[in-house]
Amino acid sequence: MSEPVPLEIAEALRDARNRTLPFGRPVHYFHEIDSTNAVASEMAERGAPEGTTVMASSQTAGRGRLGREWYSPADAGLYVSLVCRNRSAAPLLTLAGGLAVAEGVRAATGLPVEIKWPNDIMVPAGSASSHRRKLAGVLAEASSGSDGLQYVVLGFGVNLRAAAYPPAIVRQATSLEMELGRAVDAGRLLVEILAAFAGRFAELAGGGREAVLDRWRALAPSATGARVEWAAVGGRCEGTTAGVDCSGALLISTAGGMERIISGEVTVVYQ
Ligand code: BTN
Repeated sequence: MSEPVPLEIAEALRDARNRTLPFGRPVHYFHEIDSTNAVASEMAERGAPEGTTVMASSQTAGRGRLGREWYSPADAGLYVSLVCRNRSAAPLLTLAGGLAVAEGVRAATGLPVEIKWPNDIMVPAGSASSHRRKLAGVLAEASSGSDGLQYVVLGFGVNLRAAAYPPAIVRQATSLEMELGRAVDAGRLLVEILAAFAGRFAELAGGGREAVLDRWRALAPSATGARVEWAAVGGRCEGTTAGVDCSGALLISTAGGMERIISGEVTVVYQ
């Protein structure tokens, strides 16, 4: 059973309804749940419509990419999942999700975040840190049946304020408050992310991929010309990034030819 949406979030969503639809209505809010992606998937299985939005103040089993945990303490982040059903939008949804989070953070806070393939949202090295740090992440989980794709749940987590991050991520993680030195309006941030996502989603649903890919490329400098490493079946590989193709796969130029990476983790050695 969901709970009332906090007033500042409800008001922000209501005022911006025309920019965020179909997302942000209805919103199911929970003080604490296992994972907003898990709950949104259960709702989608029961027929929840496109745009259904699940939010939580904390998650006890937040899911990250590649089977990792997404650390989700109370009131320290934005933890949100969206039900998407449009089949035309599905192939590039994960890239569009990362792009929307980056665009939303930029619009709401002015922080010049970048995307690291496929959809890690990073704060570049600067005055606050000598290395770039991860601010947010996106996890898209699809469900298919005998007649094809049923739905995709697009979940995103944004670190709002500093928390007692586990040792494994403490060096890489950052939050908006740590970067900006001030509190952030969570309602405004949510609205800007949903509005950006609604716009990108409409472009994809209408068959337009190029605008999404072009903007994604512009915000992902390490996807071109960066020295990277990654783990493959035969061991560690290295090469130089050469952009993303029209399906969102990362292209890497290596001594043995061009590699096309569709999933996994790529480490930027230098850029
Ligand atoms: C990543 O590993 O970078 C992806 C993290 C995605 C975390 C979000 S938080 C809201 C939604 N619910 C989940 O369980 N995971 C996603």
